[in-house]
Amino acid sequence: MLPGVCIPHGDEMSFTTCAHINLDHLADNIRAIGQKVKPARVIPVVKADAYGHGALPVVRRLLQEGYDMFAVAHLKEAMELRDSGIARPILIFGRLFPDEIPQAIQAGFRITLACREDVDWIRQAGQDLPAYVHVNIETGMGRIGLFVDQDPGFFDCLTRSGCCIWEGLYSHFATADETDRTYADLQLSRFQNVVSLIRKYPGAPRMIHMANSGAVLGRPDSYFDAVRTGILMYGHYPSAQALRTIPVRQVMTLKTFVAHIRRIPERYPVSYGRQWMSAKNTKIAVLPLGYADGVCRRMTNTGQVLIQGRRYPMVGTITMDHTMVDIGEDPVTVGDEVILWGESSHGTLQAGELAEKIGTIPYELTCGVSRRIRRVYTGDHPESG
Ligand SMILES: Cc1ncc(COP(=O)(O)O)c(C=O)c1O
Repeated sequence: MLPGVCIPHGDEMSFTTCAHINLDHLADNIRAIGQKVKPARVIPVVKADAYGHGALPVVRRLLQEGYDMFAVAHLKEAMELRDSGIARPILIFGRLFPDEIPQAIQAGFRITLACREDVDWIRQAGQDLPAYVHVNIETGMGRIGLFVDQDPGFFDCLTRSGCCIWEGLYSHFATADETDRTYADLQLSRFQNVVSLIRKYPGAPRMIHMANSGAVLGRPDSYFDAVRTGILMYGHYPSAQALRTIPVRQVMTLKTFVAHIRRIPERYPVSYGRQWMSAKNTKIAVLPLGYADGVCRRMTNTGQVLIQGRRYPMVGTITMDHTMVDIGEDPVTVGDEVILWGESSHGTLQAGELAEKIGTIPYELTCGVSRRIRRVYTGDHPESG
């Protein structure tokens, strides 16, 4: 788990670099999602330390909001939550191997199945408890999932295994956040065929789920019994093309401060490789964070920051520990708050906009905020759950 501290609402955090996590925004976002998809339930996706926001504080707040099932990618992530007292069901998306299965069964985790070998491994684990399983159906994502055509006997094998409680059936969209709906239509129709097929099985699952954030925004026909949302809950649209049918606010604000201001003459280079040269005599503000903190190098000469509500360009190569911005002749001073993305009383910078500029997605920005950055939580944050 990432280190984190809680500060009372409204405390000033000058001379500090931190990722400020507003749990009230998280709660507002998921409530808006829940309203849109009901009666389907929401399974909050909290893998990768809740996309960099800190899985434990996020889960505790979501429990308080009434959410009672979570999803992660790996056994280790699920175990960290269990060991911290989170007793609710946790679905693991990734494949579990024989040495992990006994622990997953004993902890009551929801195990993803994608082929017959997975069922064999559960049987061979020889546990006294049944395994709760969700079958992932390959419909076009091309990652993990059962090709039903390649193993038509799979569901018979599963229902007769005697070692599994078949709780869920799911699939994952590859293009739900794109304007062209053709491929998502194809995936959905493939999934619907499998849903019809399994209805005949005794013990067929009660939880059918497919939608991620993109589909929550634009594909109500894919809600089924539950939706799995990550990025939208954290206050970002999955892509620039995604429909904005639900208003959300950014949960994370990455902020730092001006550590140093220096005047440089005309035609003076800044940083490694001399990738930027001043066009005129100007002032450069030096920020004490770099790519080791999550300010990716691709922001070199492209990214912007917010100081006192005004945008300033990042100039010169982003270094491991420092980032430079051109402040011109503006009255910026050492200690001024600097927003990399997120919200402040002076204004907002959308991580999605920054991500688009550098050819990535907001997921990579929030997940990339490293352990060196302290997480500071505001909003109602229960200490246990
Ligand atoms: C299987 C699965 N479901 C749901 C999600 C959540 O996606 P999003 O963050 O776009 O809502 C992910 C995230 O990558 C995923 O891998």
